[in-house]
Amino acid sequence: MTIEIPEKGMAKEKIMQTLRAYKGEDLDWQSGKVMGYVYDAGEKAMEVIKEAYTMYLSENALDPTTYPSLLRIENEVVRMIANLLRGDEHVVGNFTSGGTESLILAVKTARDMMRVKKPEIKEPEMVLPITAHSSFYKAAHYLCVKPVIVPVLDGSFKTDIAAMRDAITENTILLVGSAPGYAHGVVDPIPEIAQLALEHDLPCHVDGCVGGIHLSYMRKMGYPVLEFDFTVPGVTSISADLHKYGYAAKGASVVLYKNQEIRRYQMFACSRWTGYTVINPAVTSSKTGGPMAGAWAVLKYLGDAGYQKIVKEVMDATQLTVDGIDKIDGIKVLGRPDMCMFSFASTSEKLNVYRLADRMKTKGWFLQPQFARNNSPSNLHVSFNRLSVPRAKEFLVILEQTVAEVMAEEVDDKTGELRAEIGKLSINFDDESFFKLAEMAGITGLELPEKMETINQLLEALPYDVSEFMLVEFLNNLMK
Ligand SMILES: Cc1ncc(COP(=O)(O)O)c(C=O)c1O
Repeated sequence: MTIEIPEKGMAKEKIMQTLRAYKGEDLDWQSGKVMGYVYDAGEKAMEVIKEAYTMYLSENALDPTTYPSLLRIENEVVRMIANLLRGDEHVVGNFTSGGTESLILAVKTARDMMRVKKPEIKEPEMVLPITAHSSFYKAAHYLCVKPVIVPVLDGSFKTDIAAMRDAITENTILLVGSAPGYAHGVVDPIPEIAQLALEHDLPCHVDGCVGGIHLSYMRKMGYPVLEFDFTVPGVTSISADLHKYGYAAKGASVVLYKNQEIRRYQMFACSRWTGYTVINPAVTSSKTGGPMAGAWAVLKYLGDAGYQKIVKEVMDATQLTVDGIDKIDGIKVLGRPDMCMFSFASTSEKLNVYRLADRMKTKGWFLQPQFARNNSPSNLHVSFNRLSVPRAKEFLVILEQTVAEVMAEEVDDKTGELRAEIGKLSINFDDESFFKLAEMAGITGLELPEKMETINQLLEALPYDVSEFMLVEFLNNLMK
């Protein structure tokens, strides 16, 4: 089917009708059954965000001299989050489009600062635990920094500090910890990582993208929270996403630095071309002021009291769910989650968690599959959100039933067979190998597959470079 720009413009109603029909294909994120991606503070907050967002939809944050109000809004958002993370008056930062942009900038800043401090480093490396977010690999890929991966400890999923110490070389430019890591919701031993950074005169980034805001409110409310913010000696930068548990609309994060001397390495200026003068703090140039205004508005609208109310509701429901899961025969929660995100794994040979995820999906529940890596087994992830609070008990009932259903079925574990086949294939990254593997996995056509069980098993079993090659090919075919 060819799709072209219509010769004559369409009526607004028809446009909206079409979009609504498209949307019908998506998971219903408002159902409370989608246990990932959803961060919602309720209808009233959404109204405020939408109004502020659209008020700044056409304003361009590229140029603070034309739109000084956006500079003011950005500075105010940064100050609010810097205070929440207990930064002093020297802490500075910027608004970005999301966690990934914040992390790319944190890595670039460390790399460029260390280029000046240690010009002898020609092949920069950053040391991070296996639980650190994939965006660090993207940053590494874009910025030619080598990621040096260290394991996490058995059972706790916290960075192995001895291994991190051993991984530091004369090429190291950055140490990384997460508060918390996405997969297990576990906060790394940030004071120890930062101490290592101090000993080696290195920057230390804390990835607080998903947890920075939520954990800070937990701390203020008296929950036991491990130290992770600017009060920890040695922490030089922190990222915190407003569009996750900060409840802003998508496209909102901040990256903060201990001081301006460090942050200056993030900036980019260009006055040597024929066009307008460019001076950017972040990766993007032209950008709508919408997300900034929306984030500013939601911080002001919810206030400390609003955030604390949500944190309490979500934490109560998380506790109930975690306790409930541990009582279900066949599954167990991994580690001791520090906030409202966690994952659970199978304790029985009869239960394949990827099949469980597929089956839960047919019942309208979305759980996120995560592969076995290092000492973390195959598991399903839950990021608990406010909309799921009233459904926590129902979730446990359905989960228990579904686990029992799947365990009663014939085990159809293709992993062994797949591994044997993979061993036989000469995978030389040509189209033929890709199609053979794709066929084995059940990714046959050019559409999104319904059942993910075999695909997940295959992707989990393949060597990383092969699975990544397959994923790239898959997306390259899927996207027009
Ligand atoms: C800990 C952590 N860091 C970074 C990111 C990347 O954030 P984004 O998807 O906003 O780019 C995420 C996303 O879930 C995350 O959980």
